[in-house]
Amino acid sequence: MASRRPPLPTATTLAHQLVGDRLVPGDTAVDATVGNGHDTVFLASLVGSNGRVIGFDVQAAAIEQTAQRTGSLRQVVLHEAGHERIGQFVEGPIQAFMFNLGYLPGSDKTVTTLPHTTIEALRLASARLESGGIITIALYTGHAGGQDEADAVTDWARRLPQDSFTVSRYQFLNQENSPPHLVCVGRR
Ligand SMILES: C[S@@+](CC[C@H](N)C(=O)[O-])C[C@H]1O[C@@H](n2cnc3c(N)ncnc32)[C@H](O)[C@@H]1O
Repeated sequence: MASRRPPLPTATTLAHQLVGDRLVPGDTAVDATVGNGHDTVFLASLVGSNGRVIGFDVQAAAIEQTAQRTGSLRQVVLHEAGHERIGQFVEGPIQAFMFNLGYLPGSDKTVTTLPHTTIEALRLASARLESGGIITIALYTGHAGGQDEADAVTDWARRLPQDSFTVSRYQFLNQENSPPHLVCVGRR
């Protein structure tokens, strides 16, 4: 029998599915945590050469790695800056923001996203989100501070006014090793 995908997507796979359903060529998207550049490449493929992907990371190594991975893709612009400074670099309206929180795999695990800067970035992102746009936030709870950040994000998202935003959370309930969960914000 042909191998099939797992019956339920991981948080990061679901994020890609939802963003993939939203973006069309020519759109503008933000990768708020470029890391190794996988999400940046994905976003660039969706918006195409006439679109734009604006990426952020605080680590020079992450920016370099992503620059190598995206190569000559002219739609990608990278900033070695915290996403809490999105307001300096990004005007609206934006069709999609991806946040993949936590630490850079294979790198210094003490450099993680932090609740106060993440919430500030989300506040700025939600103000720049186009009607019909989406924010995906992959949350990791297995490292020090991860649960506090997940709680802060969930609390922030839960308080968004329902006449302007829809909010959902996707989470496995019976898996060991703290798999990531996903909070999504859609702008009506
Ligand atoms: C889980 S990794 C991102 C993985 C990435 N999306 C990928 O596809 O490989 C989280 C990243 O967030 C970065 N980071 C930490 N604090 C940040 C901040 N304030 N603004 C932007 N990026 C930050 C880390 O340096 C790390 O590279």
